[in-house]
Amino acid sequence: MHRIPVGVLGASGYAGRELCTLIADHPGLELAFATANERRGEALELPSGPVTLVATEEAPVAGAELVFSALPHGASAEWVRRVRAAGPRVVDLSSDLRPGHGANGIPYGLTELNRANLRGAPLIANPGCYPTAILLALAPLIRHELIRPGATIVADAASGVTGAGNSPRAEMLFGEVTENFRAYAAGNEHRHLPEMRATIAALGGDLDLLFTPHLLPVARGILATITVPVVDDFPADLQAPWAEDYAGEPFIVLGHDLPALRDVTRRNVARLAVRRASGLRQPTLLVFAAIDNLVKGAAGQAIQNANLALGLPEPMGLPA
Ligand SMILES: NC(=O)c1ccc[n+]([C@@H]2O[C@H](COP(=O)([O-])OP(=O)(O)OC[C@H]3O[C@@H](n4cnc5c(N)ncnc54)[C@H](OP(=O)(O)O)[C@@H]3O)[C@@H](O)[C@H]2O)c1
Repeated sequence: MHRIPVGVLGASGYAGRELCTLIADHPGLELAFATANERRGEALELPSGPVTLVATEEAPVAGAELVFSALPHGASAEWVRRVRAAGPRVVDLSSDLRPGHGANGIPYGLTELNRANLRGAPLIANPGCYPTAILLALAPLIRHELIRPGATIVADAASGVTGAGNSPRAEMLFGEVTENFRAYAAGNEHRHLPEMRATIAALGGDLDLLFTPHLLPVARGILATITVPVVDDFPADLQAPWAEDYAGEPFIVLGHDLPALRDVTRRNVARLAVRRASGLRQPTLLVFAAIDNLVKGAAGQAIQNANLALGLPEPMGLPA
């Protein structure tokens, strides 16, 4: 089969490396180039063989049909502009072009919610990792108008350390992270909130989101526990909203058991579960979502979106 040439900007980072590995195993794609500035000239060992990292400025961009940008936010937007000017489609993994960040009209790549706008798209803003877990968990409740109007939704989520990227920082040293657990960006100020708020508004949600991220001493994975005040006449079958909205979705697993990171690691899936909270005066649900931050939360979803942009089968090359 003819393989479509694709490039990766930021291939020495966690998300970029995951992309290169998934591309190496993808039957419809081939890696045309992979960039890194600090490590340019070094070989990246992939299942398909070694690939030499090239500086971003020297990337043969025009030879690719699609380019993934796994550059840090702030640096990505300018490269997305340059790549688009040279012709290839782009899937941008940074937050630069996501909803809530000032750029309008760029399809948001939360695939299960926005598939129709991603087919053949020249440019896609891939979601953040926490927003992928939290928005996939909340969307059916918002769409079915099952959240108590004006409610505050509390989302507590913990991520493995690869979520912070691989630039050296003192607080990410092994000695600081191991056998430890802490919140960060407390005060409802995390940089993923704008895209979550914008997406909730676009879905018609009348709610406030209170989001507190935590740092978990594992390499990869996100578990979100979301407390949702719901309407009095919530369906007796608690799972019904998700079962209906996500029927036939290859990468959403709705389970009775509570999801755990072990269920989702190295898979492009979001595992969801729901429980009724007892002992409260208002009807309240607990919704749980688990993803691999580097796969469904980054590189896997980016390939899911690239498949749609390129006219390939959506699940092609992805570990379900
Ligand atoms: N990690 C995750 O779980 C995750 C999830 C979802 C989305 N994302 C997004 O994906 C992007 C990459 O994240 P990451 O965690 O993989 O970051 P990372 O580990 O810090 O990697 C960043 C990559 O970009 C390159 N780079 C840095 N500054 C650059 C510049 N000014 N110009 C060109 N290249 C530059 C780096 O290589 P050099 O330093 O050698 O240039 C490296 O290859 C970010 O926008 C992030 O928000 C990450």
